[in-house]
Amino acid sequence: MKRVQLEIILGTLFVFLSALILISYATQETSRLAEYEVAQEAELIEFGASIYENNCTSCHGDFAQGIAGIAPCLRCEELFDGRIEAIGWEGELEDYIVSVVTTGRQVSTRAEYFGGGSPAMPTWSEKFGGPLRDDQVRAVSAYIMNFQAEALGEVAAVPPPPIAIDSSTPEGLGRAQFVISGCTACHAVSGVSEATIGPSLNGIATRAETRVEGLSAAEYILESIIDPNAYLVEGYGADIMLQTFGESMAEEDFNNLIAYLLTLTEE
Ligand code: HEC
Ligand code: HEC
Repeated sequence: MKRVQLEIILGTLFVFLSALILISYATQETSRLAEYEVAQEAELIEFGASIYENNCTSCHGDFAQGIAGIAPCLRCEELFDGRIEAIGWEGELEDYIVSVVTTGRQVSTRAEYFGGGSPAMPTWSEKFGGPLRDDQVRAVSAYIMNFQAEALGEVAAVPPPPIAIDSSTPEGLGRAQFVISGCTACHAVSGVSEATIGPSLNGIATRAETRVEGLSAAEYILESIIDPNAYLVEGYGADIMLQTFGESMAEEDFNNLIAYLLTLTEE
């Protein structure tokens, strides 16, 4: 073989090999990039789950399964299949979720979901005075979107709600308020909560008027909620119950709560 021929062959081989190496590097790079993106998405969803757990379970349930009478399921076809069409949202579902979470809902669009009364769902974004940053709103939305692939069909497939709410009476609304306001974190009530940080409220309807002379049962209950230290139940210290319910709840919410607590006559 002539030297020139050998050089041509070697040269071609070299170009060919370099191209091969480049191509294989490039494909590996895209798969590395894809792996990186998947890992990033998983991290975002995990972050979103923690935000969900801290802010959303009281109304949407521990597993985003919804709570009857309070707030809808966020992992059901109800949301993923037809909800944006029903409400007339023109964009993508994920943008709808980001938008609802950002602004909250002054009034529920569905009578069967009463939420926190007024507003039905609080504003979550810092931009509107809520507690969450933009990246947190995006993360919790990604967490919800992640349910789409295995969305639950029949609502019957959802675990039974912790409580069922009758939103047609003040007592029913008050029962929902009791759960939403987190009273269940400290007070036991048969069928609703077994917490032991504060006194059981079973029988409070009959006990209340014996507590403070001059205060009716309703007046005492109201005082217990807005000024918990004014009268301390024996065996419990001051400042355990939140002192801020008076600022955070509307008058209507108090009235419903009192109406509900006045139904608890059984010890
Ligand atoms: C005080 C109760 C309450 C809390 C807490 C709450 N929500 Fe809601 N949420 C509601 C109610 C009520 C609705 C239904 C409003 C409607 O039907 O128009 C709703 C609707 C939604 C929707 C729209 C679902 C649909 O079917 O249109 C999303 C998404 C959502 N909430 C996400 C969240 C996230 C995320 C959190 C926590 C950061 C949260 N919610 C906390 C009450 C609540
Ligand atoms: C962080 C725990 C905690 C939370 C949350 C809480 N409470 Fe209490 N509550 C207590 C403790 C402790 C007492 C007893 C000390 C006192 O009297 O303030 C108490 C007392 C009461 C009493 C008086 C009971 C009696 O037998 O005289 C009522 C009524 C009451 N709470 C209602 C509520 C309602 C309604 C909510 C929700 C809006 C609520 N509490 C939320 C801890 C809590």
